[in-house]
Amino acid sequence: MGTHAMKIAVLPGDGIGPEIVTEAVKVLQVLGLDIEFEQALVGGAAYDVTGEPLPAVTLELAKAADAILFGAVGGPKYDSLPRPKRPEQALLGLRKELNLFANLRPAIVYPELAEASSVKTEIVAGLDILILRELTGDIYFGQPRGIRTNESGDREGFDTMRYSEPEIRRIAHSGFRAAMKRGRKLCSVDKANVLETSQFWRDVVIAVGKEYPEVELSHMYVDNAAMQLIRNPKQFDVIVTGNMFGDILSDEASMLTGSIGMLPSASLDASGKGMYEPIHGSAPDIAGQGVANPLATILSAAMMLRYSLNQDAAAERIEAAVKKVLAQGFRTPDIYQSGARKVGTQEMGEAVLAALKG
Ligand code: IPM
Ligand code: MG
Repeated sequence: MGTHAMKIAVLPGDGIGPEIVTEAVKVLQVLGLDIEFEQALVGGAAYDVTGEPLPAVTLELAKAADAILFGAVGGPKYDSLPRPKRPEQALLGLRKELNLFANLRPAIVYPELAEASSVKTEIVAGLDILILRELTGDIYFGQPRGIRTNESGDREGFDTMRYSEPEIRRIAHSGFRAAMKRGRKLCSVDKANVLETSQFWRDVVIAVGKEYPEVELSHMYVDNAAMQLIRNPKQFDVIVTGNMFGDILSDEASMLTGSIGMLPSASLDASGKGMYEPIHGSAPDIAGQGVANPLATILSAAMMLRYSLNQDAAAERIEAAVKKVLAQGFRTPDIYQSGARKVGTQEMGEAVLAALKG
């Protein structure tokens, strides 16, 4: 990063977003790094003030920053707004405008939390997989889409699933490169038995795979992948898949780990610039109560240091501190088991700060 300060755009958003982002910022501040933070409104919080979920100033700040720390967006009070005004559009807009096509969603089972999983402990103990989701294409962004009246006079809804070759090639390369750094196994998930888009996806992934002879490439239909994730998740190392299948499978994978409150994510462009967010969302039901788990956001900050800011040692310090607080028995309600030390958002953040110092 040279000598200039690293600039982080902080976008807390809605629901529990502000509470958890506050703790992650505190963690980033005690590392002794030259980081400047600038905050902006996003999602419903931005809509309330400006009438737009992604105001131009927020987008400009995100574009100018070295990395973005994102909390969460959305809430019931915004669900009936017209689609362009809904908080989710901020997330989709940031992904598209910043070209954040590679979404890394690791699912790791911490030994202390293996019993909190809804799946049998022996199935998930030691799990460490990475779901790599394509994030700027597919049926999420394909045109045309809409609700119309068809030739028979019936109303119908329609969307377009679409992937271009360059879009598939770049995410496939990301998948193979990630696999090279891990267990050298890549499973590409599609629905090639039914969908043209998926058949093309599979052909392109196979072609890219020729450049990575050391990686063992396999292919799986998405319905089978959904089943295999529950039956035997440890068979996977890296899963690469399209935008919609990745959305669904990553939520499923999160449940293997015991708490969605523990999982960070990174969304990267071709140069490694990225946006970092917990995968859990805004949790309006517990917002403002000080009970949300800040660890997914704190771990997202660690991913930021590693992938965008070139600060591997600092990332490892944070990850070690999180492991330490879990070993010490600190638990927010979402991961609480009897006998543990039940704490709130701020106390959990303070425990991580103490672990970093100690
Ligand atoms: C996610 C979320 C988003 C998505 C929503 C909020 C638009 O579910 O990040 O997984 O579907 O991508
Ligand atoms: Mg999702």
